[in-house]
Formats: sequence, C-alpha cells, structure tokens
Amino acid sequence: MKFELSVPATLSNFGPGFDTLGMALNRYLKIKFEADESIKSNELIIEEGEYSHNVPAAEINMIYKAAEKYCKRNFMLKMKNDIPLKRGLGSSSAANAVTFVLKELLTHEELLKNDSHSLIETIRPRIYNDAIKSEGHPDNITPCLFGGFVTARIANGEGSFLNLPFPESLKLHVLIPDIEVETKLAREILPKSYSLKDVTSNLQNLSFMMAEFCLNSKIPEKLPIFMNLKNLLADRVHQDYRLELCRPCGEVIKMLNNSEKIYGTFLSGSGTTICAVAPEDAESEIKKALHLFEAQNIGVKYYIHNIEYSGLKIKIL
Ligand code: HSE
Repeated sequence: MKFELSVPATLSNFGPGFDTLGMALNRYLKIKFEADESIKSNELIIEEGEYSHNVPAAEINMIYKAAEKYCKRNFMLKMKNDIPLKRGLGSSSAANAVTFVLKELLTHEELLKNDSHSLIETIRPRIYNDAIKSEGHPDNITPCLFGGFVTARIANGEGSFLNLPFPESLKLHVLIPDIEVETKLAREILPKSYSLKDVTSNLQNLSFMMAEFCLNSKIPEKLPIFMNLKNLLADRVHQDYRLELCRPCGEVIKMLNNSEKIYGTFLSGSGTTICAVAPEDAESEIKKALHLFEAQNIGVKYYIHNIEYSGLKIKIL
C-alpha cells in the first residue's frame, strides 16, 4: 500500500464572515504513506518544508498515531509541512483532515482500488461531519477538504457549504508574523453576547461584500467595481478582541488600510496572519507595512497567494 495525500492551508473568518467564510490557499501539508511486510518498523520521516520544523515528534503526532492505531502492517510515514502553526492558516484543520483521511483509507483498504478522483469524491463526504465536529467550526476544514472559497455552516449537527465566486483580479497578500496565538485562548476571549449594532454591521458587510464578489465575477470583461471593499471587509465580532493578543498586527492592518492600492485587510482565523486583498502590483505598499513588524524585532514572511481550488488531493502509487 502506497499513496500520497495533500491538503491546503486556509484563510478563515474572511472579512466579516466569522465562522463561515473560508478559502484554500496554494500552501500545503503533504504526506507519503507506505505500508509493507518488508518495512522493519514504523517510522516518521520529516521532509524539508518551510514549516516542517513545526511537525510534532512521533509520540505526539496525531497523524502518526492514527497510522499506528489503524495500520495492520509496519509503515513509513513521510511528512512535509509548509503551513505555520498557531497563525490562523488552518494548520490544525490540515492535520485533522489528513488524520481522518488516513484513518478511512487504513480501515477501508478496498477504497484504494478506486482511481484518485472517485476516491476523493467518496472519502470527503464520509469524513466531513466528523472532521467538522472535531474542529467545532466549519470555515477552515471545509476549504481544506473541498478547496476554493466557501461559505460553510453547521445546523443540527450537520455541516454544509457552498462554493463562492472570487474575482480573479484580486490577489491574497499574506503576511505571517512570528507571533503565535492559541485558537482556544482566542475563542475564550470573545464576548458571550454582542450589541445589535455590531451584529447588524457584520451582517450588512457580509451580505454586501458577497454581492460585490458575485457581481464582479459575473462580468469579467468589465472593470471590477469594488465599492467600499475596505469597509465591507471590516469585522466587529472577533477581530478587535483578538488584536489585543497581537497588537503589532493591529498597527499593520491600520497602515495597510490607509493605502489606496489595497482594497481591504483582515486577520485570518484567530490570527496572527494578516491577509490584504489587493491587485498583484500592491507589493511595494505591503512591503512598507512589513517594517512595522521589523521595527519591533518581529520576524515576518510575506507571500502572494492564489486560491487552491482542489482541497484534498490523493495520489495512489
Ligand atoms: N472561525 C474560527 C475561529 C477559525 O475564529 O475561532 C479558527 O482558526
């Protein structure tokens, strides 16, 4: 038995879309799995990747432990990770997704007789609800498994989602500072109730922003109309509370939002990654904001990402 799995990083809480809008990016967690009588003992091999140093050791690695539990033969697990931990880019969703897929493949080996396409189509709906339950919110795990830009919800314990259009002219400028935030803590600090004004503002922004994206995607031949996208991306449900955990991110978001080149900026997930929505040539504006981190001796990485439309990939070898 030999196969490869790959899942993407994800932006979540996209603008005013708390716990519902998520997007897969072209940045990945990949594993290669091989189980064979000829393998002498179980082994975890960490392959070179930008954030492979964040991969937990075998004893506390959920993917390795799932393989140990469910694989009937000795195995070799290779992992390559480009998704930073505790930065709001869905690293735990990616690990969860891979764990669920691995468990499914190891307990139903007959699935591997399918071609990759039908295997993916079969496996995603089978694990989706369990994966959502283990996450508690659907906006990372949904794009991680299904790819694209999505709106996802949980109702009566069931997850569901729709793929959304995203205007091609917009790029995702992703800033990853060297500041870690625990999602658990970042959820605990959120208020238990909100003012009508804050909730109404988020609902209006969300509804208006999605209408703009849909309208702009339907008329690609026309110049995109992004009226007020900066205001529409604003959130009053989680972002300001969480910026208390990473104040330099607040300063950077403010500076980016002052630039005319940038359509809007938001904190991804529970932070600390910042995503600026802008045309490709906004690079020099973004670089100016990086100095705010650097002046405070905070390392930061900057990438221009595209949407990953595929989500989970499986290659049977
Ligand atoms: N929607 C989730 C939250 C994403 O804000 O807690 C966590 O990365």
